[in-house]
Amino acid sequence: MQQLGLTKREGHTSAPAKIPTPGGKLALKALQVMLRTGSPLPALEVLHGALGKVFRANLPSFKPIMTAGAEWARWLLVEARDSFLWKAPKDPIARLLRDGLLVADGETHDAMRRLMNPALHRSALAGYVEAMWRATDRIADLWQPDQTYDMLTEMRKIALLIVMETLFSVDFMPHIEQYWSPLLHTLRYISPGLWILWADVPRPHYWRALRRIDNYLHQIIRARRALQARGGAQPNDLLGILISAEGVDDAMIRDQMLTMIIAGHDTSTGLLSWAMYLLGAHPDQAQRLRDEVDSALGGAPPTIERLAELKYLGRFIDETLRLYPPAHLGSRIAAQDLTHDGYLIRKGERVTYSIYVTHRMAEYWRDPAEFYPDRFLEKPVPYSFLPFGGGARNCIGAAFAQVEAKVILARLVQCFNFTLLKRDVHMHMGVTLEPRPGVFMRATRR
Ligand code: HEM
Repeated sequence: MQQLGLTKREGHTSAPAKIPTPGGKLALKALQVMLRTGSPLPALEVLHGALGKVFRANLPSFKPIMTAGAEWARWLLVEARDSFLWKAPKDPIARLLRDGLLVADGETHDAMRRLMNPALHRSALAGYVEAMWRATDRIADLWQPDQTYDMLTEMRKIALLIVMETLFSVDFMPHIEQYWSPLLHTLRYISPGLWILWADVPRPHYWRALRRIDNYLHQIIRARRALQARGGAQPNDLLGILISAEGVDDAMIRDQMLTMIIAGHDTSTGLLSWAMYLLGAHPDQAQRLRDEVDSALGGAPPTIERLAELKYLGRFIDETLRLYPPAHLGSRIAAQDLTHDGYLIRKGERVTYSIYVTHRMAEYWRDPAEFYPDRFLEKPVPYSFLPFGGGARNCIGAAFAQVEAKVILARLVQCFNFTLLKRDVHMHMGVTLEPRPGVFMRATRR
């Protein structure tokens, strides 16, 4: 990283270059692409294609520096990590999660990450596998063969049951209906929207939904505190770690619980629903998956040892994450003036890295738009594949999410044949990248 001042660019010492912005014609073309595809992401690809790996978006009162590509990602996430902050205090996600790990900075972040890491570490995962396939069964057992299901909704239910059971030892099944709508409202509150242009847009109904979620989380915390007061043993889970930690109060526990619920289920919902879509849209690859799962598992439920044999499933998941990365964009705020690649970045500016665009750059991927899981037989260029981010603030749940996706998909493929009823879906930019209007499928038991 270079500090502000003269900088080397293309071998010459020169003053910082101006970051390009899209002109009228290009902006219009991007808008047309967005309207045609129903998503801003292909439009972002067009802008990067025309302007290069860095440009400045030029919206009224919102002018972030947009970057793509392995080199910028490595710089932002690793080399210059200490010059950037995560938290933009006025962003809805920061208002929602307060001191949650995803949005905290500095010592609060590092201390919470150290504290919570053991619950999400690879060594803890074997203990979650049974809860994962049982949650899958509980939802899938409700499916009727002659009915159509939106896999986006079904996968959300499974992912929610799993986060609540594995991390907080809570059976969420009896509460799903009650908290479904407040949860979706809360997700809408932090999704891209008008707030990007008008930070203080009033949104009272979101706060009402959030109060209901908060009350529920505080009920769970109170029950655990009562157990602690009676001298009872805490369950061996993330909530147990937080409750037993010194100096971690209930407000901080609420922030971490809500963070894990949001970051830990909405992303997995995106991954799993896209995987189901691709499974339905590519019958040959689906057959290959079925063969692999049948030969590794037979009729038995998945175990951590057997998951290691599901190599093609692993590549199928990676390829899903490449084409449809649930977290498609990362964002940072410059904590000081600095330069990179000859460009000046001022303190307080927002710099983003596009996981979506990087995953589709012809420089790193042959036929980038093709769904081709076997491309992962070769290792990707470092930082060209970053579905879980990178560096010290990479996804703390990456290993959890990979095991979870393998367990759920293996279990579903083992037990059902799926028919995709509507191939026409577009990428919706909610908190994560979702297939809309949905992944409509029939499931018949094998
Ligand atoms: C397919 C599933 C998932 C994807 C694609 C995903 C993606 C990501 C990405 C890209 C980041 C880094 C964002 C940045 O650079 O700003 C991140 C961070 C994070 N993720 Fe995930 N995630 C997934 C699942 C999970 C799960 C299951 C959990 C928890 C149970 C989780 C919890 C978190 C947290 C707490 C952070 C913030 C870490 C920190 O800043 O130290 N994620 N995730």
